[in-house]
Amino acid sequence: MGHVVIVGAQWGDEGKGKVVDVLSRHVDAVVRFQGGNNAGHTLVVNGEKVVLHLLPSGVLRPGCLCVIGNGVVVDPAVLLEEIDALAASGRQLTPKELRISSRSQVIMPYHLALDRLREAALGDQRIGTTCRGIGPCYEDKVARRGVRMVDLVSPDRLAARVHQLLPEKNGAIQALGGEPLDADAIVEAYRPLGQRLAPFVGDAAVELHRLHRRGRQILFEGAQGTFLDIDHGTYPYVTSSTTLAGGACAGSGMGPTHIGEVVGIVKAYTTRVGAGVFPTEDVGEGGETLRAKGGEFGATTGRARRCGWFDAALVRQAARLNGLTRLALTKLDVLSGMEWIPVCVGYEGYADDDFPATLDDAIPVYEQMAGWTDDLTGCRSISELPENALRYVKRVEELVGVPVELVSVGPGRQETIVQGDLFTR
Ligand code: IMP
Repeated sequence: MGHVVIVGAQWGDEGKGKVVDVLSRHVDAVVRFQGGNNAGHTLVVNGEKVVLHLLPSGVLRPGCLCVIGNGVVVDPAVLLEEIDALAASGRQLTPKELRISSRSQVIMPYHLALDRLREAALGDQRIGTTCRGIGPCYEDKVARRGVRMVDLVSPDRLAARVHQLLPEKNGAIQALGGEPLDADAIVEAYRPLGQRLAPFVGDAAVELHRLHRRGRQILFEGAQGTFLDIDHGTYPYVTSSTTLAGGACAGSGMGPTHIGEVVGIVKAYTTRVGAGVFPTEDVGEGGETLRAKGGEFGATTGRARRCGWFDAALVRQAARLNGLTRLALTKLDVLSGMEWIPVCVGYEGYADDDFPATLDDAIPVYEQMAGWTDDLTGCRSISELPENALRYVKRVEELVGVPVELVSVGPGRQETIVQGDLFTR
């Protein structure tokens, strides 16, 4: 079996962390390949809650190599905080267990400043970014004026790079009404971060290839979701990286012929954080119920998520863009107790295999599915689901055209139904 890529098939927050956790039991490495600390998921370590933004979900499994690939943008202070928080709760990561690509980009203080200033300047038109400096860091990467991890760990390279780049950055900051930053102060603050991270920094791609040659299994953990993708998402209300499965290759240095499976994570309904079009959003009572029952508040920013109904047109497009081979359906339990559940089967005037470049005018076509009242959290096999819940799962499968092989019926690790060879290994 080739390596496995996991991606969100909606706008992020689909519950990828839990599915990665289930699958990472069988893998030797978990790789982040894009995004940065705009992502977030909560883990419970020895009874203590730890929120991870950058470290891959494999960190709880001793012996599993966690990789931060070249496609990731790394805020070194945040990464060290996570490493320290884990250590404080009894999980000390060793350099053998964490590899940070020397080619990954570093989020600098001016990226944070510019993210905030640009959002403020946009006013009503703001993207609603996480203000973690993600977009400005990727901009610099593409403009060939980034600071890479290989620069951060070398005091001389760091100083040279910061002094070379800062005047232009300060110009942009001042043009937006911000205060200029001091190059020496940045170098002073970042040098010790680089020195602490240095033992973990290396050629992540080479290590992944070594594992591959030895027949080891690698899991690529996507962050955000398909419709936040810079090319295929709801532009310009997107993040600045390639969130699609294809990004796993460029963002890690692993060739596409080594990937065997692409798992799409879908919530049984839809949520979105930040601004941008959302055809099936329910701004009334239905959406409010989903938010309250689903605990739909962001792990990174704490913002209330916008909520709405399952959109099959969206997930069908995600299946095409990512080449999905299996679906994991999460939070099905949240729908319990609803008399009727609207499901968007397509957009008016669009064929099933067609998708508009902008969703601004997309009008969802709904069908109403009968709900169920039973609590699902105790179900451990697909046959234990109440009839209408099973019908819902089958309809999702049929509308998207990809088999549902994992159904999550509660937040706990055990509250999961698995079927098919990938999840039941
Ligand atoms: P950025 O990634 O901080 O630049 O934010 C761009 C858009 O992506 C905003 O709408 C964010 O709310 C959204 N976003 C970024 N990361 C996540 C995530 O992990 N889950 C859901 N939305 C996200």
